[in-house]
Amino acid sequence: MSEFERVLISKEEIDRRTTALAEELNRDYAGKNPLFIGILKGSIFFFSDLLQKLQIEAEMDFMAISSYGAGTTSSGYVRIIKDLDRHIDGRHVVIVEDMVDSGTTLAHLKEVLATREPASIAICALLSKPERRRTPVDIDYLGFEVPDEFVVGYGLDYAEKYRVLPDVRILDRSVYEK
Ligand code: PRP
Repeated sequence: MSEFERVLISKEEIDRRTTALAEELNRDYAGKNPLFIGILKGSIFFFSDLLQKLQIEAEMDFMAISSYGAGTTSSGYVRIIKDLDRHIDGRHVVIVEDMVDSGTTLAHLKEVLATREPASIAICALLSKPERRRTPVDIDYLGFEVPDEFVVGYGLDYAEKYRVLPDVRILDRSVYEK
């Protein structure tokens, strides 16, 4: 029996959508030398594919964060495991994420980065599960809205497995309900 219910988003669909997002970013950030911030680890393939399609001057940096949502604390909290290498004051920054679920992580991360006085902050996410949102978050560049299913692949994991799949798949319930 397969571990996956089905492929939700094929590599070709991801590629087409990423190309369209890169075109938007090329238009919006021409001459601004934006700093793209990849949030490890889930965003790694999206970040890499998206940035290779840019045709403007841009820089990259990475953060690793650990998020504790409403299930483990009352307010939600983001702990920085690896911070940016450089200051971002006066920079146009674009946070690149794989998934916006409850919204807690990005809402808090955006607050943290805003205190560093960048010129602007935008959010670019591959996937969003609107049904799961608890904290509102504006996604400026979105790949796909997805249903409230457990999705893996193209960077997304279940207990660190499945990240290296080339497409986004719905994990079969039997895998995580046993
Ligand atoms: C995922 C995702 C976001 C967060 C979204 O990270 O990359 O950071 O969860 O959830 P939220 O909207 O409910 O806050 P995860 O902790 O799975 O880490 P990973 O990217 O290393 O897999």
